[in-house]
Amino acid sequence: MKVLGIETSCDETGVAIYDTESTKIVSEQLYSQASKHAEYGGVVPELASRDHLKKLIPLIRLTVREAGLNLKEIDAVAYTSGPGLRGPLLIGASTAKSIALALNKPSVGIHHMEAHLLINLLENPAPSFPFLTLLISGGHCLLINAKSLGDYEILGQTLDDAVGEAFDKVAKILDLGYPGGPKIEELAKRGDPTAFQFPRPMTNKNNFDFSFSGLKTAVYYEFQNLKQINDSQKADLAASFQAAVSDTLLIKTREAMKQTGLKELVIGGGVASNKCIRNALITGLEGNKIYFPPINRCTDNGAMIAFAGSFYIKNAERTLGLDIKPRWPLSDLNNG
Ligand code: KG4
Ligand code: ZN
Repeated sequence: MKVLGIETSCDETGVAIYDTESTKIVSEQLYSQASKHAEYGGVVPELASRDHLKKLIPLIRLTVREAGLNLKEIDAVAYTSGPGLRGPLLIGASTAKSIALALNKPSVGIHHMEAHLLINLLENPAPSFPFLTLLISGGHCLLINAKSLGDYEILGQTLDDAVGEAFDKVAKILDLGYPGGPKIEELAKRGDPTAFQFPRPMTNKNNFDFSFSGLKTAVYYEFQNLKQINDSQKADLAASFQAAVSDTLLIKTREAMKQTGLKELVIGGGVASNKCIRNALITGLEGNKIYFPPINRCTDNGAMIAFAGSFYIKNAERTLGLDIKPRWPLSDLNNG
């Protein structure tokens, strides 16, 4: 069975085809709108919608052609139905449903964060349920006990900014541009991670929740104090901030592994592409099995939606009702 996956929840238009027989992504395309939003310092939802509208169909055509297929050979269409930006979600959902209806094939809405989690199962070796999951993206920071497909117990989450959001805001303070995560990572390579002593928020609390807003403010105050900041101080700020995030994620995750007794850790979401965070988790959790998606499948992509779609074909529909959910807690998913 060939599943076409469509991701449009934010500022990436992602399209891919997953083949359940070869268990491979046979073709994938990604178009990032990031440069369009850069001058505004963040995603402008209306611009995002218009760009998805322009790019999605050509990208689907290209993906199908590069797979050596005809659109009629697609067996099902999966799309992100939430959480995400309303307009972009509507464009993905309406395109997916229209294609499916025209082909008389089923379509299925996918939870974006579940797709970030499940994409790890495509790797070899793959984790097996139950496992602990750390999802770190622009909108979420979640520690989850993933018990089985569709059964996710949220152990902790951010009380304010998501991790990626904190990276983006700190990048704005340092005037690095958008999206901030990769820019901070790049600049931090030249900085000293011990130059500034930033807090490791909530690590003294006996729970698995996070809070990154205060850490971002701490960077802001140091930045203000420096007045005429030079490049090396900027790099030190970036490296020290990144080290504080890495330590915080490690401390919380290590404690969650201890308390749940889970021995496998699955990581997903855009921030999982950060090598400093990857290394901190690998080193600090030695003895446990840790799974990351390949770097290009950490940030939003169509492959994760096509692959997640293959698990949920049995839920697929043949209707045109647009069931998007811009706000959709992962714990609201019910089994299968
Ligand atoms: O998963 P994702 O592509 O979209 C959401 O679902 O939100 O994550 C995007 C977030 C952005 O905040 C971006 O700055 C962050 O992931 N990010 C990174 C890196 N690459 C992307 N953060 C830190 N280091 C990176 N290398
Ligand atoms: Zn995402």
